[in-house]
Amino acid sequence: MAGKERQRLDKVLAHLGYGSRREIKKMVKAERVIVNGAVVRDPELHVFPWQDRIEVDGEPIHYREYIYLMMNKPQGVLSATEDAAGKVVVDLLRPEHKAFAPFPVGRLDKDTEGLLLLTNDGQLAHRLLAPKKHVPKRYYARVKGVVTDEDKGAFQAGITLDDGYRTLPAELTILHAGPVSEVELVIYEGKFHQVKRMFAARGKTVTYLKRLAMGALVLDEKLAPGEYRELTADELASLGAVQVS
Ligand code: URA
Repeated sequence: MAGKERQRLDKVLAHLGYGSRREIKKMVKAERVIVNGAVVRDPELHVFPWQDRIEVDGEPIHYREYIYLMMNKPQGVLSATEDAAGKVVVDLLRPEHKAFAPFPVGRLDKDTEGLLLLTNDGQLAHRLLAPKKHVPKRYYARVKGVVTDEDKGAFQAGITLDDGYRTLPAELTILHAGPVSEVELVIYEGKFHQVKRMFAARGKTVTYLKRLAMGALVLDEKLAPGEYRELTADELASLGAVQVS
């Protein structure tokens, strides 16, 4: 739904996840919907969703065209909108958010946790994923084997992956070096299994991977795996997106 023109009330409410058009018709009949102080009789009434005061069951609606969700993706769930066999991140959303048909911006492996942005704003997704933009992605990883300053130098120089692709310089911070090391890694691209394959090229295995940040967006550590919330206005602005509502 684009623009600021008048729209049918039932379509507006359906877009926001209040139910099907049939269900909304029933809600209107039951006098549960009020526009600018007057009980609505016609579900097809044309309204200005951005300006009119629309209430359902006494609560004002929060009209918006796009939705932007920050999720702490749990392990065992696919970064997809649907999958015949497995559970997908969209399955974790509440109906009022699912109604916007959001999709994940980029992919995390099934066993990777952490920051996943879901939106129905295709332009923003495109900007964040465009390879030429080199949007930084920061990961925390546990790695089997002692991660060394040599690894750090190799990552900085660029790693040749198993398919011959040479990665862009990446910044490795060693948090703890030991039989199981802990690191943070910032990469500026998003090749398939990139972090795992970069360590594999150094003879090491990533045993746990969590994305902490993407561009200016930092994972809210208050979100437990599987939880999500809408982005704040500041977070949206930092991504160059503005929610008009
Ligand atoms: N790199 C990986 O290997 N896996 C991910 O999920 C993300 C980056």
